[in-house]
Amino acid sequence: MSEQGLGARAAVGDARPGAAASDAGADAGAADSMFAVQYAEFGPPEVLTVRPHAQPHAEAGQVRIAVRAAGVAPVDLSIRSGRSPSASRLTLPHIPGMDAAGVVDEIGPGVRGVALGDEVFGSVDIAKLGGASAEFAVLSFWAKKPAALPWAQAGASGSSIETATRALDLLDITEGTTLLIDGAAGGVGSAAVQLALARGARVIGTASVANQSYLASLGAQPLTYGPGLPGRVAALQAETLQAPALQATARATTPIDRALHVSGANALPELISLTGSPDAVVTLSDFTGPSLGVRVSVGEIGGEPDGRHGLAAAAALATQGRFRVRIDHVLPFERAAEAHVAAGALSPRSGKIVLVPPGEQLH
Ligand SMILES: NC(=O)c1ccc[n+]([C@@H]2O[C@H](COP(=O)([O-])OP(=O)(O)OC[C@H]3O[C@@H](n4cnc5c(N)ncnc54)[C@H](OP(=O)(O)O)[C@@H]3O)[C@@H](O)[C@H]2O)c1
Repeated sequence: MSEQGLGARAAVGDARPGAAASDAGADAGAADSMFAVQYAEFGPPEVLTVRPHAQPHAEAGQVRIAVRAAGVAPVDLSIRSGRSPSASRLTLPHIPGMDAAGVVDEIGPGVRGVALGDEVFGSVDIAKLGGASAEFAVLSFWAKKPAALPWAQAGASGSSIETATRALDLLDITEGTTLLIDGAAGGVGSAAVQLALARGARVIGTASVANQSYLASLGAQPLTYGPGLPGRVAALQAETLQAPALQATARATTPIDRALHVSGANALPELISLTGSPDAVVTLSDFTGPSLGVRVSVGEIGGEPDGRHGLAAAAALATQGRFRVRIDHVLPFERAAEAHVAAGALSPRSGKIVLVPPGEQLH
């Protein structure tokens, strides 16, 4: 993990409450103002600035946090660019970011089990499509951040853990299931690997060549992705049969029971062939799935049961040293444009990009 440029504070200092009127923005009165990464028009990463913005407040069922770290996810980039169909629903200026970790400073009506000052991590209301990369963010779901889960990892992981948990629930992953995760090295995939292993599943994961050892370090059996996957799975099973250490594990050579398709194009027919049924496959990113009988999981907007309970499970696993989030870069809010460029770099992934408020010194 690298932490860069944490001393560059001048631009954000201007954005604090009481900043010059010309900088203050229409909705950012000094009394209820905060600094926030935001954009007033869709476009390339350069549209991102740090400016004053009206503070959000916790509504029923929500908490507000003073943000210590906020993740940058692929969805943030597609919304910012204007390419996402969801972008048309936004009122600009918009604060990007779905995931954040921080210290609770407001508690909405009806919330139990959390106190002011608690350290938590989680996600904003997904329907709002952002709000995390700011001095204050309102979370719709969260879990307490254990000391063993560093701020950057916590801030980058809420929605990935929810998504992974929701998919594992849909696939009914339990003790003894053999699960293949296609696209296992990214934010969602790596969370799914660790949470499935914790359920007692055997996990085979696909990634680029560069990420094979990373997947193995998480406890998955790694394979490369792309056409020909059934052949590589067969070779892995044969190789496993030759390995005395693995023969001792009865699960090590079982057929593929379930497949989670996280990423990659045109993979579903091979995943159906590997599991023997489209019912045994769930995709998170291929919307042609239903034409093959494969379920697409889209979360609460699709009326599905959510995977929010996974955050507490991941926190407990982190305390046991069994859950971690790979972090590539930690950058200050002022370098949000750079963060979006880095997050937009394609394969191979080498971890999440995280933004931190000015002066934040993450340990
Ligand atoms: N439906 C939902 O609720 C939901 C929620 C969150 C995310 N998503 C979607 O899930 C996908 C993954 O999100 P993420 O945050 O995990 O992204 P990410 O961190 O960018 O990870 C994407 C992973 O895909 C792998 N990959 C690249 N090309 C591939 C291929 N041809 N076949 C298989 N895997 C390939 C990459 O592996 P290498 O790095 O090793 O190349 C990378 O690790 C995105 O499409 C996102 O939009 C859906």
